[in-house]
Amino acid sequence: MNIGNCVALVTGANRGLGAAFVRSLRAAGAARIYAASRGPLAADTQGVVPVRLDVNRPEQVQALAAELGDVNLLINNAGVAEFGELLAPESTDALRRQFETNALGPLRLVQAFAPVLKRNGGGGVINVVSVLSWLTLPGSGAYSASKAASWALGNALRGELKVQGTELLAVHCAFVDTDMSRGMHGDKLDPDQLARLSLQALQAGHAELLADATTRQVHAGLAGQPAVYLGAAA
Ligand SMILES: NC(=O)c1ccc[n+]([C@@H]2O[C@H](COP(=O)([O-])OP(=O)(O)OC[C@H]3O[C@@H](n4cnc5c(N)ncnc54)[C@H](OP(=O)(O)O)[C@@H]3O)[C@@H](O)[C@H]2O)c1
Repeated sequence: MNIGNCVALVTGANRGLGAAFVRSLRAAGAARIYAASRGPLAADTQGVVPVRLDVNRPEQVQALAAELGDVNLLINNAGVAEFGELLAPESTDALRRQFETNALGPLRLVQAFAPVLKRNGGGGVINVVSVLSWLTLPGSGAYSASKAASWALGNALRGELKVQGTELLAVHCAFVDTDMSRGMHGDKLDPDQLARLSLQALQAGHAELLADATTRQVHAGLAGQPAVYLGAAA
C-alpha cells in the first residue's frame, strides 16, 4: 500500500515505538494520523489527531471504528511486558494481562477496523510482535506466549484480510530502545529506524519484517538442530 497520503491509526502512540510511528508517518506524508493513547497524549502532537483508546476496552474500540471512517492503515503497536517465572503462582494473572493486551488487543482492533479498511480500498495492518514470538528467554515465558499467540493470529488474519485486499505486516524485532527495554543489556534498535523500516516493508508488500540481525539469526535457527527455541531458556 502507499504510505504517502494514508490515514493511519497508531495504538500506544504516546511514547516509545508508537510515538516513532507517528513521526515516521508524518515524515512519509500521511494525510491524517490518529494517535491513540490511554491517557492524555504527552508526546509531540503536531499534525496529529489525538484519540483515546485502551485496547482492552471493546466498547472504546467499537466506538473508535464507528468514528474514524477514513482509516486505511491500522498500526497495532500497544503492548505490555511483564517478566517472571511461569512456575510462580501469579504467572497466570500476568499471562492473562499480556494475552489481553498483546494478542486479543490487536485482534479486537482488526475485527473492528476490517470493514473500515475494506470500505477504504483494502489498506493495511501492521502488527508489532517480537523475536520473542519464537523464543523464550529466562523470565519471558508469559510475554513470549502472548507474542507467539499474536504472531499466529496475525498469520490467520492475513489470509482472511487478503480476500478484501488488506495486507498485514508482522514486525519482528529484538530490543528496541524504549521504556520497555530499559535495564536490558545488548544492542537496541532505534525506534525511529524501526518505524521507518516497518512502513517501507508494508509499502513493499512484505508479510514479515525481520528488523535486525538477532531476529534474522533466531528465525534461521528455527530450522536448526537443535531448534533455537530449545536451548534459549536454559
Ligand atoms: N522495546 C522492545 O525492546 C520491544 C521489542 C520487541 C517488541 N516490542 C513491542 O513493541 C511495541 C511497542 O512497545 P515499546 O517498546 O514502545 O514499549 P513502551 O515504551 O513500554 O510503550 C508501550 C505503549 O503501549 C501502550 N499500552 C500498553 N497497554 C495498553 C492498552 N491496554 N491500551 C492502549 N495502549 C496501551 C502504552 O501506553 P501507556 O503509556 O498508557 O502505558 C505505551 O504507549 C509493543 O507491542 C512491544 O511488545 C518492543
